[in-house]
Amino acid sequence: MTSASQERDKWGSKVGFILAAAGSAIGLGNIWRFPYVTGQNGGAAFVLLYIIFVVVIGLPVMVAELTIGRTTERDTVGAFAKLAPKSLWTLVGMLGVATGVGILSYYAVIAGWTVGYFFKTLGGSFSHLMTAETSVNIFTHFVSNPAAAIGLLFVFILLTALVVMGGVSSGIERWAKILMPVLFVLLILLTLRSVTLPGAGKGLAFYLKPDFSKITIGAAGKALGQALFSLSLGMGAMITYGSYLSKKENLVIAGCYVAFFDTLIAIIAGLMTFPALFAMGLDPAGGPGLVFVVIPTIFAKMPGGDFFGAGFFLLLSVAALTSTISLLEVPVAYLVDEWKWTRKKAVLIMSALSFTLGIPSALSNGASSWLSKIPGIGTGFLDLANIVLGNYSLTLGALLISVFIGYKWGIKAAIAQNEKGGNTFYFKNVWAFLIRFVCPIAIMLIFVYIIWTKNYF
Ligand code: PFF
Repeated sequence: MTSASQERDKWGSKVGFILAAAGSAIGLGNIWRFPYVTGQNGGAAFVLLYIIFVVVIGLPVMVAELTIGRTTERDTVGAFAKLAPKSLWTLVGMLGVATGVGILSYYAVIAGWTVGYFFKTLGGSFSHLMTAETSVNIFTHFVSNPAAAIGLLFVFILLTALVVMGGVSSGIERWAKILMPVLFVLLILLTLRSVTLPGAGKGLAFYLKPDFSKITIGAAGKALGQALFSLSLGMGAMITYGSYLSKKENLVIAGCYVAFFDTLIAIIAGLMTFPALFAMGLDPAGGPGLVFVVIPTIFAKMPGGDFFGAGFFLLLSVAALTSTISLLEVPVAYLVDEWKWTRKKAVLIMSALSFTLGIPSALSNGASSWLSKIPGIGTGFLDLANIVLGNYSLTLGALLISVFIGYKWGIKAAIAQNEKGGNTFYFKNVWAFLIRFVCPIAIMLIFVYIIWTKNYF
């Protein structure tokens, strides 16, 4: 992204922006998080909820964030300060900055696993993979190795820092343009193999035939969190990216492109995962290790499996990198814009902080038994961070952003900004209705329910 190299830069082109925003959106959230959260929350019915939330909450909040960013041309804290001077609304920006650093800290741990799996696959670790148990054992052994987990976390944060610092940035954009379609093709290949495995039918039914009794408010909360996480919403990443966007672009169209491709990739990732998972007799509610266990079993059953498998994990690492860039860009833009730090200093300090905060997550998958199952909570540190930051914090952020635009800054002002430069704001009345009523009410209902039932995890 062009923004990384200079302050207040503009995206080179509309395609450049859509690619960067899609790069932020498409990542581990689609391929790692979506399948396992779907598996834990009942399959097809959850997918349905997820799609509904992408359309009725995700898209409106995406347009809201991009509008705030483009109007103010500031980082997420500065944007609120500019639209509502001397008010507590800047705290929404602060929440976003803190959430960005927090998500980056554990996201980079998982991204490190994909790098590790690239090397493992290349080295032939999965060539003779026969059973699901073997795959589970390889995974468990790998993630519980503290040196590997911390080392790979370090490598990934370092790569992210190098890109955000500049220089390589335009290169990344160019590479992503070529590599993402290749990832898409590999995803399709793995899916074709997965759905033709003997016993795949059960997985397809789990994933595609909704059991409506699984639609609960608790599942809705998870589906909404997943939709926001996957679209990079609720923490100002799209405010920050929108701030580098030229006045000419049509935000509704850009938002629709990003949401469409993001959702498509997630849906295909599920289609790749569940048939193989059921064919191997694994538990769909297995948690964060799910795809790392399942995917090697698919390419173990493909001709040229090591090659395709290594390619897959390499490309997944690239997809993760275009997302970690946006996570780091949020705090960095804040420090550069508001504190007048140099980009270099901001990147160094924020990446060091994310690395340090990531260490407990890296150790919470077997290396430390305390961190792997925190007493009194019962989940591991990484899972906890993933729920608190990746779900609740983003959901709270989305609620506050919709209230801000609907009732503080105002729908009229937002629409006027979008129509500047002769742009048509498609479906503006629908958008206004969703952002003023549907988003805040739906999110508040979900929060009330979760607090009421104490169903936090
Ligand atoms: N959307 C990214 C993914 O699905 O992998 C994760 C993410 C990036 C979340 C940036 C939030 C964010 F601001």
